[in-house]
Amino acid sequence: MLTIVVLISGTGSNLRALLEAVSEPDFPARVIAVGGDREAEGFLHAEAFGIPTFMVPWEQFPSREDWAQELATQLEVWRPDLVVLSGLMRVLPAGLVDVWSPRMINTHPAYLPEFPGAHGVRDALAAGAAQTGATVHIVDAGVDTGPVLAQERVPIETDDTERTLHERIKPVERRLLIDVVRRIADGDLDLAAAASVP
Ligand code: GRF
Repeated sequence: MLTIVVLISGTGSNLRALLEAVSEPDFPARVIAVGGDREAEGFLHAEAFGIPTFMVPWEQFPSREDWAQELATQLEVWRPDLVVLSGLMRVLPAGLVDVWSPRMINTHPAYLPEFPGAHGVRDALAAGAAQTGATVHIVDAGVDTGPVLAQERVPIETDDTERTLHERIKPVERRLLIDVVRRIADGDLDLAAAASVP
């Protein structure tokens, strides 16, 4: 059984979908803890599913490295097989990524390498793109630069706002994430091999 820690910053709708998927008796993975960098609405989903939570409050640490050191300590407590960044709005320092990658994956609301960064949906709209997408990738030391595990296009409608577009992307993100987690758990997706593809 693949064990997972999910890290969030926000509403946790993708987390919720993952929790629902893994609660199916035949799903080969379990979420063992949910962590975050702030008081996030998404923790309510974890609590509803009886999953332990932990928080490493960003504001209470003098530097990114100090914050990440405490996050690393928390991850060591749980020692999951996989860490899923599901809307965690922080760039992790290379030291932490080195410890967990390739067993750390991220979901991103754009078709990487297009529109990386914190405003992928807004940037796709601002660029006047006809389509964007969703991506699940291995986390590496860059910002949304790691090897792609799954991605899918999402068309942009002429009357889309950032909100409406993001709401159409998220269900695609969820489906890709759940599929990737299942393939990892089933042994059909080898993260080390995926990470070594140039
Ligand atoms: C997702 O689109 C994720 O890729 C992005 O933030 C969103 C998180 O949404 N970084 P939610 O918290 O799962 O609702």
